[in-house]
Amino acid sequence: MPNLHEITATPQPTPCRFEPDANLHGNGAAPQPTPCRFEPDANLHGNSATPQPSPCRFKADANLHGNSAAPQPSPCRFKADANLHGNGAAPQPSPCRFTPDANLHGNGATSQPSPCRFTPDASAAGVGWGGPAYRRAMTEPRPEPLRVATEPRTADWIDDAVRAGGAALAPVAEAAAVVWTAPDRPDELAALLDAHPNLAWVQLPWAGIEPYLDVIRAHPDRTWSCATGVYAEPVAEHALALLLAGFRHLATYARAETWTRDAGRNLHGARLALLGGGGITRAFLRMVGPFACDTTVVRRSPEAVPGATRTLPADRVDEALTDADAVVLALPLLDATRHVLDARRLALLAPGAWVVNVARGAHVDTEALVDALRSGHLGGAALDVTDPEPLPDGHPLWSMPNVLITPHTGNTKAMARPLLSGRITDNVRRRIADEPLLGLVDPDAGY
Ligand SMILES: NC(=O)c1ccc[n+]([C@@H]2O[C@H](COP(=O)([O-])OP(=O)(O)OC[C@H]3O[C@@H](n4cnc5c(N)ncnc54)[C@H](OP(=O)(O)O)[C@@H]3O)[C@@H](O)[C@H]2O)c1
Repeated sequence: MPNLHEITATPQPTPCRFEPDANLHGNGAAPQPTPCRFEPDANLHGNSATPQPSPCRFKADANLHGNSAAPQPSPCRFKADANLHGNGAAPQPSPCRFTPDANLHGNGATSQPSPCRFTPDASAAGVGWGGPAYRRAMTEPRPEPLRVATEPRTADWIDDAVRAGGAALAPVAEAAAVVWTAPDRPDELAALLDAHPNLAWVQLPWAGIEPYLDVIRAHPDRTWSCATGVYAEPVAEHALALLLAGFRHLATYARAETWTRDAGRNLHGARLALLGGGGITRAFLRMVGPFACDTTVVRRSPEAVPGATRTLPADRVDEALTDADAVVLALPLLDATRHVLDARRLALLAPGAWVVNVARGAHVDTEALVDALRSGHLGGAALDVTDPEPLPDGHPLWSMPNVLITPHTGNTKAMARPLLSGRITDNVRRRIADEPLLGLVDPDAGY
Protein backbone atom coordinates (compact mmCIF):
# COMPACT_ATOMS: atom_id res chain seq x y z
CA MET A 1 0.00 0.00 0.00
CA PRO A 2 1.35 3.42 -0.81
CA ASN A 3 1.83 5.92 1.95
CA LEU A 4 -1.03 8.26 2.51
CA HIS A 5 0.99 11.28 1.59
CA GLU A 6 1.73 9.60 -1.69
CA ILE A 7 -1.77 8.95 -2.76
CA THR A 8 -3.27 12.32 -2.26
CA ALA A 9 -4.48 13.43 -5.61
CA THR A 10 -6.11 16.60 -4.47
CA PRO A 11 -3.90 19.69 -4.40
CA GLN A 12 -2.31 20.35 -1.06
CA PRO A 13 -3.95 22.95 1.14
CA THR A 14 -1.58 25.79 0.83
CA PRO A 15 -0.77 28.51 3.24
CA CYS A 16 0.99 30.48 0.54
CA ARG A 17 -1.19 32.68 -1.57
CA PHE A 18 1.43 32.85 -4.26
CA GLU A 19 1.53 29.11 -4.48
CA PRO A 20 1.00 29.02 -8.23
CA ASP A 21 4.41 30.45 -8.93
CA ALA A 22 5.61 27.12 -10.13
CA ASN A 23 2.97 27.21 -12.83
CA LEU A 24 3.33 30.83 -13.67
CA HIS A 25 7.04 30.64 -13.98
CA GLY A 26 7.92 27.07 -14.56
CA ASN A 27 5.17 25.93 -16.86
CA GLY A 28 5.99 27.91 -19.97
CA ALA A 29 7.89 26.34 -22.78
CA ALA A 30 9.88 29.50 -23.28
CA PRO A 31 12.05 30.89 -20.52
CA GLN A 32 10.84 34.12 -18.96
CA PRO A 33 12.56 37.08 -20.59
CA THR A 34 12.02 39.41 -17.68
CA PRO A 35 13.05 38.95 -14.13
CA CYS A 36 10.45 37.34 -11.97
CA ARG A 37 8.37 39.84 -10.17
CA PHE A 38 7.76 37.36 -7.39
CA GLU A 39 11.42 36.90 -6.93
CA PRO A 40 11.91 38.30 -3.46
CA ASP A 41 10.83 35.92 -0.77
CA ALA A 42 9.15 38.72 1.14
CA ASN A 43 6.65 39.10 -1.72
CA LEU A 44 6.13 35.43 -2.11
CA HIS A 45 5.06 35.15 1.49
CA GLY A 46 2.16 37.43 1.80
CA ASN A 47 3.24 40.78 0.45
CA SER A 48 4.25 41.69 3.88
CA ALA A 49 7.08 43.89 4.86
CA THR A 50 7.80 41.57 7.72
CA PRO A 51 10.04 38.70 6.70
CA GLN A 52 8.37 35.31 6.90
CA PRO A 53 9.69 32.95 9.52
CA SER A 54 9.41 29.83 7.41
CA PRO A 55 11.02 29.27 4.05
CA CYS A 56 8.71 29.33 1.08
CA ARG A 57 7.93 25.88 -0.13
CA PHE A 58 8.14 27.19 -3.70
CA LYS A 59 11.36 28.96 -3.11
CA ALA A 60 12.91 26.94 -5.85
CA ASP A 61 11.05 29.17 -8.29
CA ALA A 62 13.54 31.91 -7.89
CA ASN A 63 16.16 29.47 -9.00
CA LEU A 64 14.04 28.22 -11.82
CA HIS A 65 14.13 31.74 -13.15
CA GLY A 66 17.80 32.05 -12.86
CA ASN A 67 17.46 34.52 -10.07
CA SER A 68 19.56 32.63 -7.67
CA ALA A 69 23.23 33.05 -7.24
CA ALA A 70 23.65 29.41 -6.38
CA PRO A 71 23.32 27.01 -9.32
CA GLN A 72 20.58 24.43 -8.91
CA PRO A 73 21.72 20.86 -8.73
CA SER A 74 18.73 19.68 -10.70
CA PRO A 75 17.42 21.20 -13.92
CA CYS A 76 13.98 19.75 -13.21
CA ARG A 77 11.35 22.39 -13.59
CA PHE A 78 9.01 20.41 -11.37
CA LYS A 79 11.38 20.49 -8.48
CA ALA A 80 8.67 22.06 -6.40
CA ASP A 81 6.93 18.69 -6.42
CA ALA A 82 9.12 17.49 -3.63
CA ASN A 83 7.68 20.24 -1.52
CA LEU A 84 4.14 19.61 -2.61
CA HIS A 85 4.31 16.02 -1.51
CA GLY A 86 6.72 15.95 1.28
CA ASN A 87 6.73 19.51 2.50
CA GLY A 88 10.28 18.75 3.47
CA ALA A 89 13.49 20.47 2.64
CA ALA A 90 15.10 17.23 1.62
CA PRO A 91 14.52 16.03 -1.94
CA GLN A 92 12.18 13.05 -2.23
CA PRO A 93 13.99 9.81 -2.92
CA SER A 94 11.48 8.69 -5.49
CA PRO A 95 8.74 10.50 -7.33
CA CYS A 96 5.30 10.15 -5.88
CA ARG A 97 3.25 7.92 -8.13
CA PHE A 98 0.11 9.81 -7.34
CA THR A 99 1.55 13.19 -8.02
CA PRO A 100 -0.88 15.28 -9.99
CA ASP A 101 1.98 17.52 -11.01
CA ALA A 102 2.82 15.80 -14.24
CA ASN A 103 -0.66 16.52 -15.44
CA LEU A 104 -1.00 19.95 -14.00
CA HIS A 105 2.20 20.92 -15.73
CA GLY A 106 1.60 19.33 -19.06
CA ASN A 107 4.24 16.75 -18.48
CA GLY A 108 2.46 14.04 -20.42
CA ALA A 109 3.81 12.59 -23.63
CA THR A 110 0.84 13.87 -25.55
CA SER A 111 -0.13 17.40 -24.98
CA GLN A 112 -3.27 17.63 -22.92
CA PRO A 113 -5.59 20.53 -22.72
CA SER A 114 -4.03 21.93 -19.62
CA PRO A 115 -6.09 21.95 -16.49
CA CYS A 116 -3.64 24.43 -15.02
CA ARG A 117 -5.32 27.72 -14.34
CA PHE A 118 -2.02 29.51 -14.75
CA THR A 119 -1.32 28.47 -18.26
CA PRO A 120 1.26 30.42 -20.23
CA ASP A 121 -1.63 31.66 -22.38
CA ALA A 122 -2.95 33.61 -19.48
CA SER A 123 0.42 35.26 -19.07
CA ALA A 124 0.76 35.88 -22.77
CA ALA A 125 -2.62 37.57 -22.76
CA GLY A 126 -1.30 39.96 -20.18
CA VAL A 127 -3.52 38.85 -17.36
CA GLY A 128 -2.48 41.24 -14.70
CA TRP A 129 -1.69 40.38 -11.15
CA GLY A 130 -4.76 40.90 -9.04
CA GLY A 131 -6.87 41.80 -12.10
CA PRO A 132 -10.33 40.36 -12.79
CA ALA A 133 -9.04 37.50 -14.89
CA TYR A 134 -6.52 36.61 -12.26
CA ARG A 135 -9.11 36.74 -9.50
CA ARG A 136 -11.47 34.62 -11.57
CA ALA A 137 -8.72 32.11 -12.15
CA MET A 138 -8.01 32.04 -8.45
CA THR A 139 -11.60 31.37 -7.46
CA GLU A 140 -12.91 29.17 -10.30
CA PRO A 141 -12.82 25.44 -9.57
CA ARG A 142 -9.87 23.69 -11.16
CA PRO A 143 -10.76 21.04 -13.76
CA GLU A 144 -9.71 17.76 -12.19
CA PRO A 145 -7.39 15.46 -14.11
CA LEU A 146 -8.69 11.98 -14.87
CA ARG A 147 -7.83 9.80 -11.89
CA VAL A 148 -6.79 6.25 -12.61
CA ALA A 149 -6.09 3.38 -10.24
CA THR A 150 -3.83 0.47 -11.17
CA GLU A 151 -4.94 -2.74 -9.47
CA PRO A 152 -4.45 -5.31 -8.04
CA ARG A 153 -0.75 -4.63 -8.42
CA THR A 154 1.26 -2.24 -10.44
CA ALA A 155 4.68 -1.52 -11.80
CA ASP A 156 6.50 1.67 -12.61
CA TRP A 157 5.96 1.22 -16.32
CA ILE A 158 2.19 0.87 -15.86
CA ASP A 159 2.07 3.95 -13.66
CA ASP A 160 4.22 5.81 -16.19
CA ALA A 161 1.89 4.78 -19.00
CA VAL A 162 -1.10 6.18 -17.13
CA ARG A 163 0.67 9.43 -16.39
CA ALA A 164 1.93 9.76 -19.94
CA GLY A 165 -1.68 9.73 -21.11
CA GLY A 166 -2.33 12.75 -18.93
CA ALA A 167 -4.07 11.13 -15.95
CA ALA A 168 -3.20 11.20 -12.28
CA LEU A 169 -2.76 8.01 -10.31
CA ALA A 170 -5.17 7.63 -7.46
CA PRO A 171 -6.40 5.05 -5.02
CA VAL A 172 -9.51 3.18 -6.20
CA ALA A 173 -11.84 5.10 -3.91
CA GLU A 174 -10.89 8.33 -5.67
CA ALA A 175 -10.41 7.03 -9.21
CA ALA A 176 -12.74 7.22 -12.18
CA ALA A 177 -11.00 4.36 -13.97
CA VAL A 178 -8.93 1.29 -13.22
CA VAL A 179 -6.19 -0.42 -15.18
CA TRP A 180 -6.61 -4.03 -14.10
CA THR A 181 -3.35 -5.93 -14.24
CA ALA A 182 -4.17 -9.52 -13.26
CA PRO A 183 -4.86 -11.99 -16.05
CA ASP A 184 -6.99 -14.36 -13.98
CA ARG A 185 -8.61 -12.75 -10.95
CA PRO A 186 -12.10 -11.92 -12.20
CA ASP A 187 -13.76 -12.39 -8.80
CA GLU A 188 -11.48 -9.82 -7.28
CA LEU A 189 -12.27 -7.36 -10.02
CA ALA A 190 -16.00 -7.98 -9.60
CA ALA A 191 -15.73 -7.22 -5.88
CA LEU A 192 -13.73 -4.09 -6.58
CA LEU A 193 -16.32 -2.80 -9.04
CA ASP A 194 -19.20 -3.59 -6.71
CA ALA A 195 -17.50 -1.67 -3.94
CA HIS A 196 -16.55 1.25 -6.18
CA PRO A 197 -19.26 2.50 -8.52
CA ASN A 198 -16.96 5.47 -9.18
CA LEU A 199 -14.85 3.23 -11.47
CA ALA A 200 -16.57 4.05 -14.73
CA TRP A 201 -13.93 2.66 -17.09
CA VAL A 202 -11.93 -0.57 -16.86
CA GLN A 203 -8.86 -1.22 -19.01
CA LEU A 204 -7.94 -4.91 -19.22
CA PRO A 205 -4.39 -5.83 -20.22
CA TRP A 206 -5.04 -8.83 -22.47
CA ALA A 207 -6.48 -9.43 -25.90
CA GLY A 208 -8.25 -12.64 -24.87
CA ILE A 209 -10.67 -11.64 -22.13
CA GLU A 210 -12.70 -14.82 -21.71
CA PRO A 211 -11.92 -15.14 -17.97
CA TYR A 212 -13.51 -11.72 -17.47
CA LEU A 213 -16.63 -12.12 -19.60
CA ASP A 214 -18.94 -12.81 -16.66
CA VAL A 215 -17.66 -9.74 -14.79
CA ILE A 216 -18.00 -7.62 -17.89
CA ARG A 217 -21.57 -8.76 -18.47
CA ALA A 218 -22.44 -8.27 -14.79
CA HIS A 219 -21.23 -4.65 -15.00
CA PRO A 220 -22.66 -3.30 -18.24
CA ASP A 221 -22.77 0.19 -16.73
CA ARG A 222 -18.96 0.39 -16.96
CA THR A 223 -16.95 1.05 -20.10
CA TRP A 224 -14.65 -1.88 -20.87
CA SER A 225 -11.57 -1.84 -23.05
CA CYS A 226 -8.90 -4.48 -23.53
CA ALA A 227 -5.67 -5.03 -25.41
CA THR A 228 -7.21 -6.59 -28.46
CA GLY A 229 -5.08 -5.99 -31.53
CA VAL A 230 -2.19 -4.65 -29.45
CA TYR A 231 -0.15 -7.83 -29.71
CA ALA A 232 -1.02 -8.47 -33.34
CA GLU A 233 2.47 -8.17 -34.81
CA PRO A 234 4.37 -10.40 -32.37
CA VAL A 235 1.66 -13.06 -32.40
CA ALA A 236 1.33 -12.98 -36.19
CA GLU A 237 5.09 -13.32 -36.50
CA HIS A 238 4.96 -16.32 -34.19
CA ALA A 239 2.16 -17.87 -36.24
CA LEU A 240 4.23 -17.43 -39.39
CA ALA A 241 7.27 -18.96 -37.68
CA LEU A 242 5.20 -21.94 -36.54
CA LEU A 243 3.67 -22.41 -39.96
CA LEU A 244 7.01 -22.25 -41.76
CA ALA A 245 8.63 -24.52 -39.19
CA GLY A 246 5.81 -27.02 -39.68
CA PHE A 247 5.83 -26.94 -43.47
CA ARG A 248 9.63 -27.14 -43.48
CA HIS A 249 9.68 -30.08 -41.07
CA LEU A 250 11.79 -28.20 -38.55
CA ALA A 251 10.15 -29.83 -35.52
CA THR A 252 11.38 -33.20 -36.71
CA TYR A 253 14.82 -32.02 -37.80
CA ALA A 254 15.35 -30.20 -34.52
CA ARG A 255 14.86 -33.45 -32.62
CA ALA A 256 16.98 -35.58 -34.96
CA GLU A 257 20.35 -36.80 -33.82
CA THR A 258 21.39 -38.14 -37.20
CA TRP A 259 21.22 -37.13 -40.88
CA THR A 260 17.67 -37.84 -42.07
CA ARG A 261 15.72 -38.02 -45.29
CA ASP A 262 14.44 -34.89 -47.01
CA ALA A 263 10.95 -33.67 -46.22
CA GLY A 264 8.95 -30.47 -46.18
CA ARG A 265 6.81 -28.36 -48.41
CA ASN A 266 6.54 -24.79 -49.63
CA LEU A 267 4.42 -22.17 -47.98
CA HIS A 268 4.53 -20.36 -51.30
CA GLY A 269 1.16 -20.75 -53.02
CA ALA A 270 -0.39 -22.72 -50.13
CA ARG A 271 -4.07 -22.63 -49.37
CA LEU A 272 -4.66 -21.19 -45.93
CA ALA A 273 -7.77 -20.93 -43.77
CA LEU A 274 -7.52 -18.15 -41.21
CA LEU A 275 -10.11 -18.28 -38.43
CA GLY A 276 -10.59 -14.75 -37.09
CA GLY A 277 -10.11 -11.59 -39.06
CA GLY A 278 -8.85 -9.24 -36.36
CA GLY A 279 -5.51 -7.72 -35.48
CA ILE A 280 -3.48 -10.93 -35.56
CA THR A 281 -4.89 -12.15 -38.85
CA ARG A 282 -4.43 -8.77 -40.51
CA ALA A 283 -0.80 -8.60 -39.39
CA PHE A 284 -0.32 -12.21 -40.53
CA LEU A 285 -1.77 -11.39 -43.95
CA ARG A 286 0.70 -8.53 -44.34
CA MET A 287 3.59 -10.82 -43.44
CA VAL A 288 2.53 -13.74 -45.59
CA GLY A 289 1.84 -11.53 -48.62
CA PRO A 290 5.11 -12.37 -50.45
CA PHE A 291 4.27 -16.09 -50.24
CA ALA A 292 1.34 -15.59 -52.61
CA CYS A 293 -0.94 -17.88 -50.62
CA ASP A 294 -4.64 -18.37 -51.27
CA THR A 295 -6.14 -17.07 -48.04
CA THR A 296 -9.69 -17.51 -46.77
CA VAL A 297 -10.52 -15.50 -43.66
CA VAL A 298 -13.48 -16.42 -41.49
CA ARG A 299 -14.84 -13.69 -39.27
CA ARG A 300 -18.09 -12.85 -37.55
CA SER A 301 -19.02 -9.85 -39.67
CA PRO A 302 -19.22 -10.10 -43.45
CA GLU A 303 -16.90 -7.25 -44.56
CA ALA A 304 -13.87 -8.32 -46.57
CA VAL A 305 -10.56 -8.31 -44.72
CA PRO A 306 -7.86 -6.40 -46.62
CA GLY A 307 -5.23 -8.68 -48.11
CA ALA A 308 -7.33 -11.82 -47.93
CA THR A 309 -8.21 -13.71 -51.09
CA ARG A 310 -11.73 -14.09 -49.72
CA THR A 311 -13.62 -13.45 -46.49
CA LEU A 312 -16.40 -15.68 -45.22
CA PRO A 313 -18.85 -15.30 -42.34
CA ALA A 314 -18.58 -17.60 -39.31
CA ASP A 315 -21.30 -19.96 -40.52
CA ARG A 316 -19.19 -20.84 -43.58
CA VAL A 317 -16.16 -22.04 -41.66
CA ASP A 318 -16.46 -25.54 -43.21
CA GLU A 319 -16.00 -24.01 -46.65
CA ALA A 320 -12.79 -22.30 -45.56
CA LEU A 321 -11.38 -25.47 -44.04
CA THR A 322 -12.18 -27.81 -46.92
CA ASP A 323 -8.92 -28.81 -48.62
CA ALA A 324 -6.92 -26.13 -46.82
CA ASP A 325 -3.18 -26.88 -46.49
CA ALA A 326 -3.13 -25.18 -43.11
CA VAL A 327 -5.49 -23.53 -40.70
CA VAL A 328 -4.36 -20.69 -38.46
CA LEU A 329 -6.54 -19.92 -35.44
CA ALA A 330 -6.64 -16.27 -34.31
CA LEU A 331 -10.09 -15.68 -32.89
CA PRO A 332 -11.51 -15.08 -29.42
CA LEU A 333 -12.60 -17.96 -27.22
CA LEU A 334 -16.37 -17.80 -26.97
CA ASP A 335 -19.09 -20.39 -26.53
CA ALA A 336 -19.46 -20.32 -30.30
CA THR A 337 -15.77 -20.89 -30.96
CA ARG A 338 -14.93 -23.50 -28.31
CA HIS A 339 -13.88 -26.65 -30.20
CA VAL A 340 -14.39 -24.84 -33.47
CA LEU A 341 -11.89 -27.40 -34.74
CA ASP A 342 -13.45 -30.75 -33.83
CA ALA A 343 -12.94 -34.17 -35.39
CA ARG A 344 -15.37 -33.50 -38.24
CA ARG A 345 -13.74 -30.21 -39.21
CA LEU A 346 -10.21 -31.55 -38.88
CA ALA A 347 -11.21 -34.16 -41.44
CA LEU A 348 -12.15 -31.41 -43.91
CA LEU A 349 -8.55 -30.20 -44.12
CA ALA A 350 -6.37 -31.42 -46.97
CA PRO A 351 -4.31 -34.55 -46.24
CA GLY A 352 -1.02 -33.49 -44.69
CA ALA A 353 -2.43 -30.15 -43.50
CA TRP A 354 -1.01 -28.29 -40.51
CA VAL A 355 -2.95 -26.81 -37.61
CA VAL A 356 -1.43 -23.62 -36.20
CA ASN A 357 -3.05 -22.29 -33.04
CA VAL A 358 -2.00 -18.94 -31.55
CA ALA A 359 -5.41 -18.11 -30.07
CA ARG A 360 -6.64 -20.35 -27.23
CA GLY A 361 -6.16 -24.06 -26.66
CA ALA A 362 -9.87 -24.75 -26.24
CA HIS A 363 -10.56 -23.76 -29.84
CA VAL A 364 -9.30 -27.22 -30.74
CA ASP A 365 -10.66 -30.51 -29.47
CA THR A 366 -7.34 -31.86 -28.23
CA GLU A 367 -8.37 -35.52 -28.30
CA ALA A 368 -9.60 -35.18 -31.86
CA LEU A 369 -6.33 -33.47 -32.77
CA VAL A 370 -4.26 -36.30 -31.30
CA ASP A 371 -6.36 -38.80 -33.24
CA ALA A 372 -5.99 -36.88 -36.51
CA LEU A 373 -2.24 -36.67 -35.99
CA ARG A 374 -1.97 -40.37 -35.15
CA SER A 375 -4.05 -41.36 -38.16
CA GLY A 376 -1.63 -39.52 -40.42
CA HIS A 377 -4.37 -37.31 -41.84
CA LEU A 378 -2.68 -34.20 -40.52
CA GLY A 379 0.84 -33.23 -41.45
CA GLY A 380 1.33 -31.78 -37.99
CA ALA A 381 0.31 -29.23 -35.42
CA ALA A 382 2.15 -26.15 -34.22
CA LEU A 383 0.61 -24.93 -31.01
CA ASP A 384 1.39 -21.84 -28.95
CA VAL A 385 -1.68 -22.57 -26.83
CA THR A 386 -3.02 -25.90 -25.61
CA ASP A 387 -5.96 -27.42 -23.79
CA PRO A 388 -5.16 -28.09 -21.02
CA GLU A 389 -2.66 -25.31 -20.54
CA PRO A 390 0.05 -25.69 -19.43
CA LEU A 391 0.16 -29.00 -21.27
CA PRO A 392 0.96 -31.63 -18.62
CA ASP A 393 4.17 -33.59 -18.78
CA GLY A 394 3.64 -36.93 -20.46
CA HIS A 395 0.79 -35.69 -22.65
CA PRO A 396 0.84 -37.55 -26.01
CA LEU A 397 1.34 -34.28 -27.91
CA TRP A 398 4.80 -33.86 -26.36
CA SER A 399 6.16 -36.99 -27.95
CA MET A 400 4.78 -36.63 -31.47
CA PRO A 401 7.56 -35.80 -33.92
CA ASN A 402 5.32 -33.62 -36.06
CA VAL A 403 4.08 -31.50 -33.18
CA LEU A 404 5.73 -28.24 -32.27
CA ILE A 405 4.73 -26.67 -28.98
CA THR A 406 5.68 -23.25 -27.68
CA PRO A 407 4.57 -22.33 -24.15
CA HIS A 408 2.23 -19.45 -24.98
CA THR A 409 5.10 -17.27 -26.10
CA GLY A 410 3.54 -15.66 -29.13
CA ASN A 411 3.68 -12.54 -27.09
CA THR A 412 6.29 -12.67 -24.36
CA LYS A 413 6.25 -10.29 -21.39
CA ALA A 414 9.16 -8.37 -22.86
CA MET A 415 7.29 -7.93 -26.14
CA ALA A 416 4.03 -7.08 -24.44
CA ARG A 417 5.26 -4.38 -22.11
CA PRO A 418 5.90 -1.55 -24.59
CA LEU A 419 2.81 -2.47 -26.58
CA LEU A 420 0.50 -2.54 -23.57
CA SER A 421 2.09 0.59 -22.22
CA GLY A 422 1.27 2.34 -25.49
CA ARG A 423 -2.33 1.12 -25.39
CA ILE A 424 -2.81 2.34 -21.82
CA THR A 425 -1.37 5.75 -22.62
CA ASP A 426 -3.38 6.03 -25.79
CA ASN A 427 -6.63 5.06 -24.12
CA VAL A 428 -6.07 7.38 -21.15
CA ARG A 429 -5.48 10.22 -23.57
CA ARG A 430 -8.57 9.24 -25.55
CA ARG A 431 -10.69 9.02 -22.42
CA ILE A 432 -9.61 12.51 -21.38
CA ALA A 433 -10.24 13.87 -24.87
CA ASP A 434 -13.58 12.05 -25.04
CA GLU A 435 -12.47 10.09 -28.11
CA PRO A 436 -13.47 6.46 -28.78
CA LEU A 437 -11.33 3.99 -26.84
CA LEU A 438 -9.25 1.38 -28.62
CA GLY A 439 -10.06 -2.26 -27.95
CA LEU A 440 -13.53 -1.41 -26.74
CA VAL A 441 -15.21 -4.60 -25.52
CA ASP A 442 -18.64 -5.49 -26.81
CA PRO A 443 -20.17 -7.36 -23.86
CA ASP A 444 -22.74 -9.09 -26.06
CA ALA A 445 -20.21 -10.27 -28.64
CA GLY A 446 -17.81 -11.25 -25.85
CA TYR A 447 -14.63 -9.69 -27.27
N1 LIG B 1 -0.78 -16.49 -28.26
C1 LIG B 1 -0.78 -15.32 -27.69
O1 LIG B 1 0.19 -14.93 -27.03
C2 LIG B 1 -1.94 -14.40 -27.91
C3 LIG B 1 -1.75 -13.02 -27.83
C4 LIG B 1 -2.82 -12.17 -28.09
C5 LIG B 1 -4.06 -12.71 -28.40
N2 LIG B 1 -4.23 -14.05 -28.44
C6 LIG B 1 -5.55 -14.63 -28.76
O2 LIG B 1 -5.87 -14.29 -30.10
C7 LIG B 1 -7.23 -13.90 -30.18
C8 LIG B 1 -7.41 -12.95 -31.34
O3 LIG B 1 -6.66 -11.76 -31.09
P1 LIG B 1 -6.87 -10.45 -32.00
O4 LIG B 1 -6.07 -9.38 -31.34
O5 LIG B 1 -6.64 -10.78 -33.44
O6 LIG B 1 -8.42 -10.21 -31.74
P2 LIG B 1 -9.45 -9.26 -32.49
O7 LIG B 1 -8.71 -8.17 -33.18
O8 LIG B 1 -10.50 -8.94 -31.52
O9 LIG B 1 -10.07 -10.20 -33.63
C9 LIG B 1 -10.94 -11.22 -33.34
C10 LIG B 1 -11.48 -11.73 -34.65
O10 LIG B 1 -12.24 -12.92 -34.42
C11 LIG B 1 -13.43 -12.82 -35.20
N3 LIG B 1 -14.49 -13.67 -34.67
C12 LIG B 1 -15.33 -13.42 -33.62
N4 LIG B 1 -16.19 -14.44 -33.49
C13 LIG B 1 -15.92 -15.32 -34.48
C14 LIG B 1 -16.47 -16.56 -34.88
N5 LIG B 1 -17.50 -17.13 -34.24
N6 LIG B 1 -15.94 -17.19 -35.96
C15 LIG B 1 -14.91 -16.64 -36.63
N7 LIG B 1 -14.33 -15.46 -36.30
C16 LIG B 1 -14.84 -14.81 -35.23
C17 LIG B 1 -13.79 -11.37 -35.15
O11 LIG B 1 -14.71 -11.08 -36.19
P3 LIG B 1 -15.12 -9.57 -36.57
O12 LIG B 1 -13.91 -9.00 -37.23
O13 LIG B 1 -16.24 -9.75 -37.49
O14 LIG B 1 -15.47 -8.89 -35.27
C18 LIG B 1 -12.41 -10.74 -35.34
O15 LIG B 1 -12.08 -10.67 -36.68
C19 LIG B 1 -7.50 -13.26 -28.82
O16 LIG B 1 -8.88 -13.34 -28.50
C20 LIG B 1 -6.66 -14.08 -27.89
O17 LIG B 1 -7.40 -15.17 -27.39
C21 LIG B 1 -3.20 -14.91 -28.21
